[in-house]
Order: sequence, then C-alpha cells, then structure tokens
Amino acid sequence: MIARLLNSQELAPGTRHFMFEAEGGDFRFEAGQFVSLVQTVNGEEVTRAYSIASPPDGNSFALCANLVDGGRFSPFLFSMKPGDTVNLNGPLGTFTLRKTPAHSLLIATGTGIAPFRSMLHSRPAIHSPARFTLIFGVRHEAGLLYDREWREMAGARTNFDYRPTLTRPAESWTGRTGRVHDHALEALGNRRDVDIYICGLREMVDELRARLKAIGVDRKRIVYERYD
Ligand SMILES: Cc1cc2nc3c(=O)[nH]c(=O)nc-3n(C[C@H](O)[C@H](O)[C@H](O)COP(=O)(O)OP(=O)(O)OC[C@H]3O[C@@H](n4cnc5c(N)ncnc54)[C@H](O)[C@@H]3O)c2cc1C
Ligand SMILES: NC(=O)c1ccc[n+]([C@@H]2O[C@H](COP(=O)([O-])OP(=O)(O)OC[C@H]3O[C@@H](n4cnc5c(N)ncnc54)[C@H](OP(=O)(O)O)[C@@H]3O)[C@@H](O)[C@H]2O)c1
Repeated sequence: MIARLLNSQELAPGTRHFMFEAEGGDFRFEAGQFVSLVQTVNGEEVTRAYSIASPPDGNSFALCANLVDGGRFSPFLFSMKPGDTVNLNGPLGTFTLRKTPAHSLLIATGTGIAPFRSMLHSRPAIHSPARFTLIFGVRHEAGLLYDREWREMAGARTNFDYRPTLTRPAESWTGRTGRVHDHALEALGNRRDVDIYICGLREMVDELRARLKAIGVDRKRIVYERYD
C-alpha cells in the first residue's frame, strides 16, 4: 500500500502531526498499532516504524513524529508536501488496549504520546467504565503535545485523568516536575489491579519497568512499546 500525505502541522518545535490516507487496499487498524514506512533515501531503502496517533477512521490515519537531527528517515518525512506518497506496511504491533480494559496507567515521554492519542479517542476507552490516567513527561511546556486536547478530555470525561510533568520547566510552571517515574509510582499507589502501558525511548521504558518490578508489579500487567 501507499500512504498519501493530506496535510501536516507543527505541534511543537521539531515535532509535527501528519495526516495520511492509505491507498491500495483496506486499511484497518486497532488503536495503539504502528505503521512501517519505506522510502529510498540517498539511494538506500530505509524503513521506519511510526505509531498511529489517531483512532480508527476508514483509511485515514495520523502520525506524530520528531525531526531527529542527523536522522535518516525523519528528515524525509518532514520534507513531505501534501499529495506526496510513501510506501506503507501494516498495521503492525500488539501495543493495544486489552479487550476489556481494566483501570489503566498510560505513561509516555515525547512522541510516545502517539499511540495513547489513538487509544484514548477510540471506542473501547470512551465507553469503558475503567479509569485511565495519562502521565506525560516532556522537557518544556511547549513540548506537551496535544495538551489542550488532554485538558479538554479530562474536563469532559469522569474516567480520565491527565498528569503532565516537565523536566526543564520555566519558573512560571506550577504543575508537576521531574521525570515520569515517580509520578507513575505515585498514581499506582498500593494498587496492583491496574494495567500499565508505557511508550517512549528505551531508557525511559526500561528504567520504569525495573522500578515497577522492584515494587512487585506483575510483569503481565505491563505492556510497552520502545521507539529505539
Ligand atoms: C514501534 C515503533 C513506533 C515508533 N513510533 C514513533 C512515533 O510515533 N513517532 C516518532 O517520532 N518516532 C517513532 N518511532 C521511531 C522511528 O521509527 C524512528 O526511529 C525515528 O523517526 C528516527 O528515525 P531516523 O531515521 O530519522 O533516525 P535514525 O537515523 O534511525 O537515528 C536514530 C536515533 O533517533 C532516536 N530516536 C528514535 N525515535 C525518536 C523519537 N521519536 N524522538 C527523538 N529521537 C528518536 C534514536 O534514539 C536514535 O538515537 C517508533 C519506533 C518504533 C520501533
Ligand atoms: N529537532 C528538534 O527540534 C527536536 C524536536 C524534538 C526532540 N528533539 C530531540 O530528540 C531527542 C529526544 O526527544 P524528546 O524530547 O521527544 O524525547 P526524550 O529525550 O525522551 O525526552 C522526553 C522527556 O523524557 C525524559 N527522559 C529522558 N530520559 C528519561 C529516562 N531515562 N527516564 C525517564 N524520563 C526520561 C526527558 O527528561 P530530561 O529533560 O531529564 O532529559 C524529557 O522530559 C532529544 O535529543 C531532543 O532534543 C529534537
């Protein structure tokens, strides 16, 4: 299949939201899955995975990506103009909500927020009686991707709680600070009947898994997606 870029917009410096339409078949995915994009860059075929950042909606899907300095694929993605196409494989992956969601802690840093945007806007999360707590860690306030959406969701849904945290806050920031780990452990408290979904770069994911294991969380309760 191919993916045609419909449009894209800047979410934060160096981070964009891309809207694509899949062509050449029926593109059905489950919230939380990713796609694999393939492009020849400087004469070499490069394949990269991107989590889908939107809920299932016909053949349309969104991505949320960082421009990685010196990266091989992301500069190509950021150079795409509306109407441009790229080869598409997928959907792929098993980082999806359980069929009947239990109370859930969703922990993301940076663009790790993408699959959670797909999940939280999808039917299972909207209609579930389970509680979803989103802990989102970035450096600066401007990096809180989809921040307004999360705040509106928290105001509109009684089963959704949004806890952003900044590691390099400006003096004006009055919210949570520091890395996501302590906030995740605080949100979990003594409960062990909670599903924990983690997404982001490897170091964050692995450190958090180790912290959770150390306090006796059953590893079957932890689902994760690592970007590197
Ligand atoms: C299952 C899966 C889902 C993914 N989903 C997303 C997504 O939704 N959004 C996204 O931006 N990336 C995502 N990635 C990462 C993506 O596949 C690429 O690795 C990333 O775009 C860098 O590719 P590149 O060729 O430009 O850089 P490369 O030349 O491959 O350079 C790799 C460097 O980029 C770093 N890196 C990888 N991902 C990121 C990132 N997101 N932000 C900052 N640095 C990064 C790595 O740590 C490494 O140092 C995902 C990866 C996997 C495995
Ligand atoms: N080209 C651009 O303009 C652009 C745009 C976005 C990102 N980037 C670059 O891409 C890289 C990654 O981007 P990113 O900011 O999305 O992701 P990131 O480096 O994973 O940072 C996101 C958040 O995760 C935190 N973090 C880092 N390591 C952690 C760990 N082991 N455990 C828990 N939390 C951890 C960071 O805190 P700390 O502050 O403590 O690190 C930050 O709050 C960075 O080098 C960034 O500069 C570039």
